[in-house]
Amino acid sequence: MQRYSKVMIYAHWATALLILGAWITSEGGRHMRENPSLLHFSLGLGVLVLILPRLISRLLGGAPPAEDDQSRWMTLAAKAGHGLLYVFMIGLPLTGWYAASRMGISVSFFGIGVPALTGAVQGPAGPIAEIHQTAGTIILYLAGLHAIMALWHHFVRQDGTLRRMNPL
Ligand code: HEM
Ligand code: HEM
Repeated sequence: MQRYSKVMIYAHWATALLILGAWITSEGGRHMRENPSLLHFSLGLGVLVLILPRLISRLLGGAPPAEDDQSRWMTLAAKAGHGLLYVFMIGLPLTGWYAASRMGISVSFFGIGVPALTGAVQGPAGPIAEIHQTAGTIILYLAGLHAIMALWHHFVRQDGTLRRMNPL
């Protein structure tokens, strides 16, 4: 069985935890201006930070090809699903960072200040903030579906898909 590289495996599980944490700490996002959640920003930016080693490792061959006995459409569906998750993993932190900047909130990554992505405005946070809020919920559904597929591979098809991502 071919496995994912250690970098990809650790980044994958750390990202899953960071996204869960960012979602939990987004509670009350509508009051972010008066009461900004620095933990939400740090956990969310962590997802963006981990994308880089992950993609580099992928380019260097850190992702094994799909299991041999899998049909072509299943491989394509998995590729499309993973691609969509990558779009969310990059887009969510960026839209959140932009939204915070527009709301005039200073953003930091575990105590390290990061520059604003745009100038602050008075009034509503704007469409990018709306997109961020909605996408923040959609990614959880996507990840849930993705997890169900992984468990289906493991328990129903009984192939090595989940074991390829095993950190141990
Ligand atoms: C993958 C990571 C992230 C997830 C899953 C996520 C999720 C969410 C969700 C679900 C909300 C809406 C909460 C509500 O309406 O009660 C929200 C709001 C918000 N998030 Fe994130 N977020 C992430 C990353 C970030 C980052 C990196 C930043 C800033 C650097 C950020 C800044 C904000 C701000 C400012 C709001 C309030 C927006 C508004 O009130 O219009 N988020 N986030
Ligand atoms: C927010 C949570 C999650 C995100 C964003 C996420 C994202 C991803 C992405 C993008 C890949 C493709 C990696 C690549 O080939 O470059 C992947 C692979 C994988 N994920 Fe997740 N994942 C999450 C949670 C989970 C959970 C909870 C499980 C298991 C229950 C899981 C099991 C797997 C497995 C088994 C693979 C390898 C699939 C294969 O070899 O085709 N993931 N994940």
